[in-house]
Amino acid sequence: MRSKEIQERFINFFVKNNHLLVPQASLVPENDPTLLFTSAGMVQFKPYFLGLEKPPSSRLVNIQRCLRTTDIDQVGSNSRTLSFFEMLGSWSIGDYFKEKAIRLAWQFLVEELNLLPEKLWATYFSGDKKHPNLPQDKETPQFWAKVGMNPKHIVGLGYEENFWRAGDSGPCGPCTEVYLDRGEKFGCGKRSCQPGCDCDRFLEIWNAGVFMEYNQSKEGKYEDLPLKSVDTGAGLERLAMVLQNKESVFETDLFSPLIGKINSLVLKSLRGDKNTDILIRQLADYTKAITFMIADGVVPANIEQGYVLRHLIRKVVYSGQKLAISKSLGPLLIPVVISLYRDRYPYLIRYEKKIISEFIDEEGRFLDAVNRGRKEMTKIIVEKKKNDLCLEGKEAFYFLETFGLPVDLVREEFSSAGVKIEKNFTKSFVSAKAIHQKKSRAPGQFKGGLADYSQAVIKLHTTTHLLHQALRDILGNYVHQVGSNINARRLRFDFTHPVRLTAVQIKKIEDLVNKKIIQNLPVLMKKMTLREAKKGGALAFFERRYDQDLVKVYTIGKGRNVFSKEVCGGPHVYKTGQLGKFKIIREESVGSGKRRIYGILINKLKVKS
Ligand code: ALA
Repeated sequence: MRSKEIQERFINFFVKNNHLLVPQASLVPENDPTLLFTSAGMVQFKPYFLGLEKPPSSRLVNIQRCLRTTDIDQVGSNSRTLSFFEMLGSWSIGDYFKEKAIRLAWQFLVEELNLLPEKLWATYFSGDKKHPNLPQDKETPQFWAKVGMNPKHIVGLGYEENFWRAGDSGPCGPCTEVYLDRGEKFGCGKRSCQPGCDCDRFLEIWNAGVFMEYNQSKEGKYEDLPLKSVDTGAGLERLAMVLQNKESVFETDLFSPLIGKINSLVLKSLRGDKNTDILIRQLADYTKAITFMIADGVVPANIEQGYVLRHLIRKVVYSGQKLAISKSLGPLLIPVVISLYRDRYPYLIRYEKKIISEFIDEEGRFLDAVNRGRKEMTKIIVEKKKNDLCLEGKEAFYFLETFGLPVDLVREEFSSAGVKIEKNFTKSFVSAKAIHQKKSRAPGQFKGGLADYSQAVIKLHTTTHLLHQALRDILGNYVHQVGSNINARRLRFDFTHPVRLTAVQIKKIEDLVNKKIIQNLPVLMKKMTLREAKKGGALAFFERRYDQDLVKVYTIGKGRNVFSKEVCGGPHVYKTGQLGKFKIIREESVGSGKRRIYGILINKLKVKS
């Protein structure tokens, strides 16, 4: 079954069962301070699970482009791990719960996809000694048996496997996952082999339900959510692998033209080797990720999303060198990715030139860095050889941190010059990296976490809208947002402006924001098409959507007293009087033509009632 048909069957099945088909979100979550990328379909629906916003329907379905960076280095070495993938998702927001979710999953797999029931297995949360306050899920195994699954195929697992959460806090709950038994020939042969084993025999094909029951607080306490919801997700590539009878996701129609193209660029003498295959698969997956990231507005940088993009482009360039491909891979592979996805993501065509040029620019910066790094490495190699010393993992980290050089490159450079590599090289590299990340307070640089929807963050979010408009009023209408990051302590706002702000301008901006807080303006949300939103004057600089898609528009103020109007995912406070007094604590440059403001809320302000 072609991947297009899998998607159609999935959507049709859930729509037939009264689910509303909703648009997908950008790979970069809007207004989500702790999450770098959309790592699952549920990310854009978090306010619904938390009861902060009402969904357009209590049953939803969609297909979401996703990026996961936790297993990025494993890509290619097994049949299934990817950084970029598409997730088929369905949701019940306070509507049906476990029994119906399981029935729908079974029906879809057996009746719509014609998978053989005897090949299907399911896991459920059977409690965990380390988490005694989370009860075992007793109902899920009963519901699976009731729909017809072999009771021997229903396996209880612990917290790590079957308690789903997207970070250290936020909505979470026990989950049930469906596995497909691909047969003994894919297995490790161990007696203990069952779903959850690392080998290729049991393939997880569907997280058929996270039963969202709890909200985990930052202190680690589980509070009941106002609604009980279901969140499901299936990787399109994995389903395609099963339904197209392929040994790995890389042989499906979602990859074959791309893999074919890369193969044709590799020297015949290198083909067929295991390491070559891993590199080819990585090139394919990473190029997809790069293409979609840039199309969603990410540019290479040293922090956050831009850091991940930079890392991936550099890996692609370096892998190309290892495969002795002399041409730049960006202009060769990006068009193939676009032709694979252009029907479903037509905006990619518009961004093709930009994607390729960002790739080439970053490639240039990387090659310069390699040259500089090599000079330094040459000096150290001489020292090491003279004193018969090994290369340590933490030294390789130094080259990553200072020059952005991939660890393999550094390692190979030293070993091909005859320097030995320390025994605990990888461990020492990983721990140096961990220490650095802790120091630079950049957790989640490779991981997603659930958004912090605390009152402090929500307040700073509304303040950000006021600040955006105040900047435009005081400095000029050319000012617009180029980035925003909020945590419980402060807002950070990047915008276009050529020069440093003067003290007078800063004071004027603060005063205008505070004036709007004192006026205690209402914050109202309305849904409309993006076209209507823009026509009505709403600011919308981050949209990668079609004009006809529905978006939320937040208006601050009413009637003639409308101060700000912006397309945004929310959530926000109801009245600006809730915010307190605004203060700008820092203003600095972030590259040419861009400035950054840090602002906080202090004290209460006496506001109009
Ligand atoms: N959000 C769930 C997952 O990603 C469905 O597995």
